[in-house]
Amino acid sequence: MSLEIPKTVAIIMDGNGRWAKAKGLPRTAGHKQGATNVRDIALACNEIGIKKLILYAFSTENWKRPEEEVGFLCKLPGVFFNMFIKELMEKNIRVTFAGELNRFPQDTQDVINKAVSMTENNTGLELCLAINYGSRRELLLGIQKYASEVAQGLRENDLEEDEMSKYLMVEEEVDLMIRTSGEQRISNYLLWQIAYAELIFTPVAWPDFDKKELERCISEYQKRDRRFGGLTS
Ligand code: FPP
Repeated sequence: MSLEIPKTVAIIMDGNGRWAKAKGLPRTAGHKQGATNVRDIALACNEIGIKKLILYAFSTENWKRPEEEVGFLCKLPGVFFNMFIKELMEKNIRVTFAGELNRFPQDTQDVINKAVSMTENNTGLELCLAINYGSRRELLLGIQKYASEVAQGLRENDLEEDEMSKYLMVEEEVDLMIRTSGEQRISNYLLWQIAYAELIFTPVAWPDFDKKELERCISEYQKRDRRFGGLTS
């Protein structure tokens, strides 16, 4: 049992659609509420002392959704930063992203890049949005990069496990992975980085996932015995 706060937390923010449907609202209303909750949970993580929060905002598979929903989700990061960047800045939160932004509308890319550069010297929580992110794609791009460096003679064909992060979109190991809304899947999220993460599945839908539920997840994490393949810690 460790009473440490997890350094890196990753969340699969599931259940926006069901949350909206249960209220007789369109799915997009669930995503909108979900985006507001990103602000609340980022502030909470910052207060708790978590170093990095990685949120699955749009996956490489989400392009399969109806055009209207995809259009809405693509614009959401821009809407989010226009609303909250000032507050994130005041709270010393640093914004980063993981994924291939180039398929997103230019204005959304501009707002995200601006949020990243504006906050780059902040020293509080790192809020990393996984946008057009998929772990298989991340690994594939990393392998291609490594292969091309070897082919160009830039490095030996001798990659070590601890050098892998150089070829990935997310460097850190995840300590705690949370999925909201009852599903128990990983959905192509941070496959390399969760090798020894503790997994918590909560029935609460993302728009209702609040600081209290986050703290409950953290105290469940603290009761786990993380052995990393060894014996007792
Ligand atoms: C999964 O729920 C959620 C998504 C695919 C999108 C998640 C996006 C947000 C929470 C907002 C993003 C915020 C920012 C700041 C960019 P679902 O719609 O699949 O839910 P369902 O399983 O109930 O249908």
